Amino acid sequence: MSTNPQIEDTYTKVASVDDVPRGRGIAVDVDGIEIVVFNVKGEFHALSNRCPHQGAPLYKAGEEKINAEDTWTDSRGGVNEDEVTVSCPWHLWELDIESGEHEVSGKCIGTFDAEVADGDVYVRI
Ligand code: FES
Repeated sequence: MSTNPQIEDTYTKVASVDDVPRGRGIAVDVDGIEIVVFNVKGEFHALSNRCPHQGAPLYKAGEEKINAEDTWTDSRGGVNEDEVTVSCPWHLWELDIESGEHEVSGKCIGTFDAEVADGDVYVRI
């Protein structure tokens, strides 16, 4: 498959598909805008990387950390691939990955078009 010229014109290449593990997100910067790209069952979605509650970086959802005892902590938050939602790693607000909405509060974050071409992920802001 060749790259769609329209994608090259209006989208920014942000990662290889292999850079985004399934069920996780990565942080990317497009023209100074912090964006998280999630891989949900092989579909790529781009949103603002900042939670609408208190601004947690959403790409850390589901991340495990080494604690002071040098042991791995449980992951906190994460992507629900069946519901297409992400739980924020700080206070577990659950956001719709496709719309950016937090249903309970009515708050919302920006979403961006994401496309795949030639094994790369492109985002349009
Ligand atoms: S900062 Fe995301 S739930 Fe509080």
